[in-house]
Amino acid sequence: MANVTETADSAKRFDQTMLSLERRFFPDAREWVVTRASGDTVEVAIGTGLNLPYYGADVRLTGVDLSPAMLAVAVERAAQRGRKLHAVVGDAAQLPFADASFDSLVCTFALCEVPDVGVALTEFARVLRPGGRLLLADHVVATTAIVRLGQRLLEAITIPASGEHYTRRPAAQLPADFTVVDSHRRTKGAVEYVEARTRPASVIGGQ
Ligand SMILES: C[S@@+](CC[C@H](N)C(=O)[O-])C[C@H]1O[C@@H](n2cnc3c(N)ncnc32)[C@H](O)[C@@H]1O
Repeated sequence: MANVTETADSAKRFDQTMLSLERRFFPDAREWVVTRASGDTVEVAIGTGLNLPYYGADVRLTGVDLSPAMLAVAVERAAQRGRKLHAVVGDAAQLPFADASFDSLVCTFALCEVPDVGVALTEFARVLRPGGRLLLADHVVATTAIVRLGQRLLEAITIPASGEHYTRRPAAQLPADFTVVDSHRRTKGAVEYVEARTRPASVIGGQ
């Protein structure tokens, strides 16, 4: 669960923890996911903006996060890189955008902590244009029994403490609007990257 009273210091400490975890367990995640974004793009739960280095120069980027402190670090990071970022405080479950606003939606390492993944994914489908691209990376329920056991034990502590889930799998909960076009699991299946597309306008119009 996001802590909206997070301070700038705790937001910066997040970077150190996250970067050391990803070097060990999912070093290619951000590049795999983010370099696929194009056009009008929204990153939901952008955090401190660790994905910013991977966006192409032609991407017009909006970043949303529940935590103003995390978002402030993302804004600073974008400015340092000379990148325009439209930053908005908002909830993944109720995005402050009209239907069909974006060509791409990126969400990394955050669906593990939203209260209801199904609601967030339905919201993602709503704000994407026909043929839009959904790009996800997260830690998910592992394909290996021993790792799954560890995940269940861990989340017995983390769910009550911070709302952090380890046995979810967003790819298995995608609304029917989405078709998965590429995916990759690594680290005993405990990390998954997904590219899915919404139905193209020609298909929607033909119904
Ligand atoms: C583990 S961090 C990941 C940040 C970033 N996506 C990354 O890959 O580094 C999770 C982020 O999700 C945000 N978050 C959690 N629940 C949210 C929600 N319901 N809506 C928007 N942001 C949320 C938190 O504030 C935090 O910045």
